[in-house]
Amino acid sequence: MKNIIVDETTKRELVRAAKEAAGNAYAPYSGYKVGAALLCDDGSRYTGCNVENAAYPCGICAERTAAAKAVSEGNRDFRMIAVVGSSAEKCTPCGMCRQVLYEFAPDMTVLCADNSGEYDEVKLSDLLIRGFGASSLK
Ligand code: THU
Repeated sequence: MKNIIVDETTKRELVRAAKEAAGNAYAPYSGYKVGAALLCDDGSRYTGCNVENAAYPCGICAERTAAAKAVSEGNRDFRMIAVVGSSAEKCTPCGMCRQVLYEFAPDMTVLCADNSGEYDEVKLSDLLIRGFGASSLK
């Protein structure tokens, strides 16, 4: 699947899966539920939601939940991620999530969606310009 263009249907499926994952979000403090659906080069998919905590910094975003699920199951070849927030505004990954995704796939695509399913398609490298990555340490 690596060099195959991801079609519109797959993108819509990812956004739908992200929205479904947002249903599991634990966000009693912000009230802002987020879902993510990550597609890897071999076609496998991992979803995630934000999980907040009474000790606020212990919370984790939806994108990092999905990324940790993929990596912990042996898959680091991120291709595309859809992110959906519970508002009419399209949800873009926070800075920490951009950095975590960049570690594995600087060239991956991000679908930033709103709660109606509309999305903008952006490159992670445009969200994190001149990002610091594994190659920076060489
Ligand atoms: N959040 C995410 O899960 N992903 C993002 O990209 C933006 C922010 C979560 C973190 C926190 O639980 C809530 O949204 C409000 O910031």
